[in-house]
Amino acid sequence: MSVPLQAGTENCAGPETGEITPAMDQQADELIARYPVSSRSAVLPLLHLWQETFGYIGPRGVEWIAEKLSLQAIQVLELVTFYPWFRQRPYGRFHFRVCRTLSCALGGSGKTFAALQKLMGLKADVHEGTMVSEDGRFSLEYSECLASCGTAPVVLCNDDFHEKVDEKRAAELVAGCK
Ligand code: FES
Repeated sequence: MSVPLQAGTENCAGPETGEITPAMDQQADELIARYPVSSRSAVLPLLHLWQETFGYIGPRGVEWIAEKLSLQAIQVLELVTFYPWFRQRPYGRFHFRVCRTLSCALGGSGKTFAALQKLMGLKADVHEGTMVSEDGRFSLEYSECLASCGTAPVVLCNDDFHEKVDEKRAAELVAGCK
């Protein structure tokens, strides 16, 4: 039996809405079946499944996965908070990550980030973390090295990778977000 979450969810947007369909439940069971020796090894695949379905992993997702794998909720939550890929609140329909590690920083990723922030109309201080536009269209955050240091500055928009993104290219990317 899992223990309800009491701490560590302060940054969550609240429980995810939407139905857990029988198809999703079956998909989860199939993922768990791939780990007959230790079902808890399925926790990362289940986190990906939940995020792909609901857009982020809030308390409801954490509780559901914990229940599925007979874990404590905190054992699931600690993975959500450890891996930057997992989200604890909804992002924009177009989510941008700008690399800020050394090569990209020297290559001007700060200017790229500022240009994107302005183009998206995001007013929050960058040090507050992920910014989301009021209409839910865009979100923007810094990321660490995206493994293409020779083509800095590098930007990821959803799953699409973009290299040598200067301010002009940033404007083109935003304009292409239809
Ligand atoms: S430093 Fe930006 S991709 Fe490696």
